[in-house]
Amino acid sequence: MNILITGGAGYIGSHTCIELLSSGHHIIVVDDLSNSNEMSLERVKELTGRDFIFEKIDIADKKKLEKIFMEQRIDAVIHFAGLKAVGESVAVPLRYYHNNITGSLVLFNLMEKYGVRNLVFSSSATVYGANNQMPLTEEMTLSATNPYGKTKLYIEEILRDLSAANSNWSIALLRYFNPVGAHSSGLIGEDPSGIPNNLIPYVTQVAIGKREYLSVFGSDYETKDGTGVRDYIHVVDLAKGHLKALEEVTRSKGIGAYNLGTGKGYSVLDIVRVFEKIIGRKIPYQLAERRPGDLAVSYADCSKAQIKLNWAAKKDLEEMCRDSWNWQVKNPEGYINQKVGIN
Ligand code: NAD
Ligand code: WQD
Repeated sequence: MNILITGGAGYIGSHTCIELLSSGHHIIVVDDLSNSNEMSLERVKELTGRDFIFEKIDIADKKKLEKIFMEQRIDAVIHFAGLKAVGESVAVPLRYYHNNITGSLVLFNLMEKYGVRNLVFSSSATVYGANNQMPLTEEMTLSATNPYGKTKLYIEEILRDLSAANSNWSIALLRYFNPVGAHSSGLIGEDPSGIPNNLIPYVTQVAIGKREYLSVFGSDYETKDGTGVRDYIHVVDLAKGHLKALEEVTRSKGIGAYNLGTGKGYSVLDIVRVFEKIIGRKIPYQLAERRPGDLAVSYADCSKAQIKLNWAAKKDLEEMCRDSWNWQVKNPEGYINQKVGIN
């Protein structure tokens, strides 16, 4: 198939490009590089031995995006492009609403106009809000407390309306839990700019000596050790989930939401211990206040993805942490200032 990938230079997008190319698909990547580096795509080419078109485009730029729809035959779209920092979204909500929602509307309009109605969308476990029982299942109540989460929820709603209005659409809403890890080569991985917001990149930066210690946000939650529990999923497992979702959208019409996680919850201190085992030394940490907006516990029921998509995550926490560490060691400064074919 010919697949348009928005946000394909980013963390999850680049790993998904590898899986798609390795499975024989053709891809066209659009990304404005607002949170990524073109080097990731060079590495994708290097790892797969496959070439593809890349256009540096903001998806909200209708003229430029339309040119792609006019010039390329597209069978399906995987839509990763979006801003994702929760704290930043509270500070600059209009930027998030414009980028994520306007950008998506431009894309969906063009898909409608050019008759491309197969879509896989990057949603998030954040759409479950704070008031559900664990494990989270797809039919539970949805809500969002911050502008980032709201953009995901609103885009899901837009797509449900679109599907209701035109039964030719075929849409998979993939609700990712906590993606971590990196490609086993250590050539591509997560490259946060500035101070990482997320736990694993922060831990790897402490482990490599870039940061002094980890602040553990909250030690009085009702969990086994008082720290927050999450469903971490290896990014390569997640990427493979996109191929399965693509198969589903091309075989049936309608809209479906799928949890992509492992179904297992691990605490912050579990993560610290696994990293300590991998690197063979202590990770300095300090117990700190809860981070505003954090849940105590979040993990998925993934049985729907298993049954309907024939997908299940295979990689365990140790492999996630080992691959994150391998990426960090091989790319201490991320993609910045590196040439293709490092080491
Ligand atoms: P990322 O920031 O690494 O990738 C997103 C990519 O989209 C980046 O390359 C960025 O440059 C690009 N982009 C942003 N706005 C764009 C625009 N207007 N036009 C073109 N390109 C644009 O993030 P990621 O972790 O790979 O996440 C991919 C998607 O998955 C995002 O939509 C994110 O919200 C969602 N998601 C991520 C997580 C997570 O923890 N990483 C969890 C749930 C959902
Ligand atoms: C995990 C755990 C923290 C950093 C976020 C977004 C969510 C989704 C994925 C996109 C929590 C604790 C963290 C640190 C810590 N993104 N922690 N010290 O919060 O589950 O989800 O990313 O959709 O929308 O909110 O992930 O990695 O930030 O935190 O103790 O320095 O680690 O409190 O318990 P989170 P995370």
